[in-house]
Amino acid sequence: ADIYGPARRNPLGRDYSLVEARGLAAKTTVLTAGERETSGAIVQGRLIAAASDPVTSPADRGRVIGYASTATPADIDRAIAAARAAQPGWNRLGGAGRAAVLRAMGDALEAEMDPLIALLSLEAGKTLNDGVAEVREAVDFCRYYADLAERQFGAATILPGPVGETNQLELAGRGVFACISPWNFPLAIFTGQIAAALAAGNAVLAKPAEQTPLVAARAVRLFHKAGLDPDLLALLPGDGATVGGAIVGHAGIDGVAFTGGTETAWAINRQLAARNGPIIPFIAETGGLNGMFVDTTALREQVVDDVILSAFGSAGQRCSALRLLFVPHDSADELVATLKGAMEALVIGDPADPATDVGPVIDAEAKAALAAHRERLSREAVILHECAAPEGGDFFAPLMAEIPAADFLEREVFGPILHIVRYDPADLAKVAGRLAARGYGLTLGVHSRIERFAEEVRELVPAGNVYVNRSIIGAVVGVQPFGGEGLSGTGPKAGGPHALLRYATERALSVNI
Ligand code: SER
Repeated sequence: ADIYGPARRNPLGRDYSLVEARGLAAKTTVLTAGERETSGAIVQGRLIAAASDPVTSPADRGRVIGYASTATPADIDRAIAAARAAQPGWNRLGGAGRAAVLRAMGDALEAEMDPLIALLSLEAGKTLNDGVAEVREAVDFCRYYADLAERQFGAATILPGPVGETNQLELAGRGVFACISPWNFPLAIFTGQIAAALAAGNAVLAKPAEQTPLVAARAVRLFHKAGLDPDLLALLPGDGATVGGAIVGHAGIDGVAFTGGTETAWAINRQLAARNGPIIPFIAETGGLNGMFVDTTALREQVVDDVILSAFGSAGQRCSALRLLFVPHDSADELVATLKGAMEALVIGDPADPATDVGPVIDAEAKAALAAHRERLSREAVILHECAAPEGGDFFAPLMAEIPAADFLEREVFGPILHIVRYDPADLAKVAGRLAARGYGLTLGVHSRIERFAEEVRELVPAGNVYVNRSIIGAVVGVQPFGGEGLSGTGPKAGGPHALLRYATERALSVNI
């Protein structure tokens, strides 16, 4: 195995159709009062302030699942001072030493799989199956980046030179990385960013999404329990503008990794550009306006399965999710009718119920934004089908609407809304061009039995991850390195062989002997 396919032990999942797994799910989703989770600034391994703000569940706002507090400017200063002091030793430890800690973290996550799934379901409204996938992805990130650390941060690369001179190149950590993560993968992306930064020899300040401080605190405590020096990883929860802004503007950071909305990435980029001092790297993974192109040779049942999963899985709250389905006029009516049938069969409700396909959206604000978009669709487009949402909680039911062209959408719509665009195959270039012109470049799907069609679509719509005859979500670490271009991000791809490079600096050494 080389870095393109390290031999890695994948964690096992859970099969909730089995009685034992259902028992685990039921047991772990009942958190008693005494088991309430806490979060807040964790600096040098200690929770600084008493967690005081209640955290409630998106499926039931009356249900308090834990308490969190916000990091203060003093917490940020202390976390940075501790991280700066600890980082050189961590860097000197080398890739193999750091890999051992990351592997221990992977094992710790795997051992805690059921409580983590429960917390993901309670705090982020994830279905149990999404929770399984998320914990497995977090474990994969730890193990994959451990392998990369060992391979890429071991011995220096020896370079050629004239007789009497040795030349070599080595990778080293940059210093302190700020890792700012989203609520839609509050464990996998949170852990993935941290694991990448640590693997490359950095210390980390982790700023979780405001909506998901609890699972983040649990992950940070697990890192420390797995043997990571607590000074190397601080948790700094709070809102983006205040806490995120204070971290990004701090002179003591050496890099920023961010996953979230494109607008926030612009704001961070502007803030970094305004700093005087070291010019530091910015790694951004942002949104998408993802399309799938179907032609008349596509297999309808397969298209329907993949569309339903890609558009409505995880309540459409993935940056990779399908937003626009392009269907040729000749097969559009039949496909739409089959999609309606499949939407009818979706179970929308309590994310902790193993039967649920679609849980709630993350919060009332997300729900309101989707409702506003629905209003626009009802005025300016045609709503083809709408599911029913349960009462209570922040639920938004899957919806399918027909729009005239891709440029009807200016930006990403983050939730379970699928837009259908009918097209004339003779106009493919024009139709696809209007999607490409939006400037995103994350995922792209094609369903066709004609290879040339897939190639043509790929040429017309640049995208970081292209999927042919399958769903367009659920990139697997080390298998589908994930990340986009244009408005969708800067690279390097998460879970890919080059992931660690921008977290590191390169140092060349020439010695005249
Ligand atoms: N990596 C996820 C996916 O592929 C999105 O963040 O669906």
